[in-house]
Amino acid sequence: MPDQKPNVHVVDHPLVRHHLTHLRSRETTPIQFRAHVRRLASLLAYEATQDLDEEPFEVTTPLTRMTGSVVSSSLGLVPILRAGLGMVEPVLDLVPDAQVWHLGLYRDEETAQPVHYYSKLPPGQPVDLALIVDPMLATGGSAIAALTTLKEWGVPRIKLLSIIAAQDGIDAVSEASPETDIHVCAVDAELNADKFIVPGLGDAGDRTFNTPG
Ligand code: PRP
Repeated sequence: MPDQKPNVHVVDHPLVRHHLTHLRSRETTPIQFRAHVRRLASLLAYEATQDLDEEPFEVTTPLTRMTGSVVSSSLGLVPILRAGLGMVEPVLDLVPDAQVWHLGLYRDEETAQPVHYYSKLPPGQPVDLALIVDPMLATGGSAIAALTTLKEWGVPRIKLLSIIAAQDGIDAVSEASPETDIHVCAVDAELNADKFIVPGLGDAGDRTFNTPG
């Protein structure tokens, strides 16, 4: 793996490698695939949220009062349909007050270009920090389209969480949006002629939802 730019964070953890290896396997069934996605999404989100803003919070324990801390940023979770849906619940478990804003994007099979089909972002009132979740970052087209949409909404800070990425996709997103932190579990070297990540894991949307590709 080449040296990565400072905005690129590759989680280095035995459990990530363990679950990712099972996720990649063609033998992994949809129910197992969804479970591995959930585990990896939690581990990614744990890393990606380590710099959230906090504020002091008074709490009374069974023994005394003390000053604790709570998260103060307003956080938006932005799954890219369809495959990003599998990452929503585990991240919401960690940040239960997050807003969830779905973006519908699919990659045209002929051109590999992203096609928008769903967005309901309200005018005004953007969140302080958006976490885009999508298991796959291939050419980067879908992620860049999502970033553009969120910037137009007015989100000041955006992070991208993908389980698996191609180096081409990382480079494309970094060039289009150098300030965006990209958190991934692994970087694969290649995109094949069909713009699929190799070795990759196949099509995450189809494997999550058990739909024939
Ligand atoms: C996949 C994946 C990403 C996109 C990545 O979605 O989940 O959204 O492709 O490719 P890119 O980086 O080249 O844009 P897909 O279009 O297969 O839709 P799906 O999740 O509905 O299956």
